[in-house]
Amino acid sequence: MRVFVTGHDGYIGAVLVGFLKERGHQVTGLDTFYFEECALSDVPRPDRVIRKDIRSVTAADFDGADGVVHLAGLSNDPMGDINPACTYDINADATVILGRAAKAAGVPKFVFASSCSIYGAASPDDVLDEQAEFNPVTPYGESKVRSEAALSQLADAGFSPVYLRNATAYGASPKLRADLMVNSLVGYAYLSGEVLIKSDGTPWRPLVHVEDICRAVLAALEAPAGTVHDTAFNIGRSSENYQVRDVAEHVARIVPDSRIVYEPGGGPDTRCYRVDFSRAETGLPGFEPVWTVPAGIEELLKSYRQSGLRMADFEGSRFIRLKTLKDHLAQAALNKDLYWNSPRPQAH
Ligand SMILES: NC(=O)c1ccc[n+]([C@@H]2O[C@H](COP(=O)([O-])OP(=O)(O)OC[C@H]3O[C@@H](n4cnc5c(N)ncnc54)[C@H](O)[C@@H]3O)[C@@H](O)[C@H]2O)c1
Repeated sequence: MRVFVTGHDGYIGAVLVGFLKERGHQVTGLDTFYFEECALSDVPRPDRVIRKDIRSVTAADFDGADGVVHLAGLSNDPMGDINPACTYDINADATVILGRAAKAAGVPKFVFASSCSIYGAASPDDVLDEQAEFNPVTPYGESKVRSEAALSQLADAGFSPVYLRNATAYGASPKLRADLMVNSLVGYAYLSGEVLIKSDGTPWRPLVHVEDICRAVLAALEAPAGTVHDTAFNIGRSSENYQVRDVAEHVARIVPDSRIVYEPGGGPDTRCYRVDFSRAETGLPGFEPVWTVPAGIEELLKSYRQSGLRMADFEGSRFIRLKTLKDHLAQAALNKDLYWNSPRPQAH
């Protein structure tokens, strides 16, 4: 397949490009490269790269693609809060621009990286499936709700959007994100000996390895359109819902000489949800997730050791998406709408 990946230079994209190429697919990547200088290790290159903001994409960009994987966007709640109007602009309105352009270009499949955070605040007693009520608590979560609804309006016999509602990701990637819960807990434990819990440890969170997200993307791309057409899938494993304190215990057990520490004043956190993944486990042909959180903690520890990770990098702006964007804004490299103020020199 000729696969068009937006946001290919991000945390998930950098793993996905390798996955797709390994399967023999031809990959075009499109990204505005907000995090170009933020690599932990060598980033796999797509066959073709388009350096562009998704808000400016046209049908001509898709050039014979058989499928689109739409990852680009402001990828977590704190980034979405920098400028909520801009979050809707990039995450929701530009998703519609992309969907329309892909449809006009005759691309049959559009795989959208949605998120379990559309379920938002929920009772820990409920295990939420795809029919659960949406209750997003941030512009980020709301932008995913709006995107799915708008893409669904475009669905027809020739255009099949698929919504992958990913759990919170973890795991090694050449474009490490240290702002993801497991990645962060392991990094601090490794670098400081403390497994730092910032809440009271009780919130539930479904967790999924970045490679298992890539397996879901592959399955959605390769599935017959009829089996996934206009369908949402929670992406993760039903056995991989964790309370933060349980993850912390695994980290303290696996990372040598580390111990759990609670940050003073940590509350219960409004984002709390447990998710049922049986639809993807049984109804997304070819999707077989393999990772568990303890195995991912061991993998992360190995990757941090191998890369010689240091605290200054881990806490700095290189691996924390919000800090990188704030740096670009402070240096006036980006304007308030998160467009580059001047063309960027191409690193590759
Ligand atoms: N990582 C997770 O835990 C997780 C969970 C659920 C859903 N998702 C979704 O998956 C997608 C990818 O997440 P990620 O963790 O790889 O994020 P990331 O921040 O590492 O990567 C996002 C990429 O999109 C690019 N981008 C952002 N705005 C753009 C724009 N206007 N034009 C062109 N490119 C732009 C960035 O430069 C970056 O390379 C996001 O849509 C995110 O909401 C991620």
